[in-house]
Amino acid sequence: MTNPSIVITGFMGTGKSSVGKIVARKLGREFVDMDALIESREGASVREIFETRGEVYFREREAAMCAELGARENLVIATGGGALVNADNLSRFAHALVFCLDTGVDQILSRLGDSIDRPLLRDNPRERVTTLLNSRRAAYARIELHVDTTGKSVEQVADEIINAFMKVSGGDSHAASLGGASR
Ligand code: S3P
Repeated sequence: MTNPSIVITGFMGTGKSSVGKIVARKLGREFVDMDALIESREGASVREIFETRGEVYFREREAAMCAELGARENLVIATGGGALVNADNLSRFAHALVFCLDTGVDQILSRLGDSIDRPLLRDNPRERVTTLLNSRRAAYARIELHVDTTGKSVEQVADEIINAFMKVSGGDSHAASLGGASR
């Protein structure tokens, strides 16, 4: 593809959507929030989809969305935190540049704050975040490009992604690490 999409993934609360919007604006690209698109197609919020149709149904919608968006180019896409844990979904973005935003449990909890409406984090958020993050560690490690977001503003993270993207798309093989993102 001549204009590969930029895909931003990572655990809940790592800032995917906020960062994605900035990256898209700065690059003059269309921004797609995968969860928002699922919600508008289903006419229901992610929380409602989990409650009424179940997680398996949500994951099917997510997989279909990865297939659809993976076939397009020139987009900036923010995925839901679990979307690319599935290796088949990740392979749909073989032609895109996929960035995983990383941080630790404390930072995730403070970013999510009191507004935890995520169906997967009900009851005991600290325990749920710790367990889920550990269970996804290997899956996130399969993603080629990583940005540590700890202590950084969304603007800083967006600039790191843009720098890495510019260098990679300019053909510099050391691009990502020079741009702040690491492979
Ligand atoms: C999920 C993350 C959520 C949303 C759903 C499941 C996950 O998206 O897709 O609640 O499995 O990590 P955000 O990462 O944008 O919160």
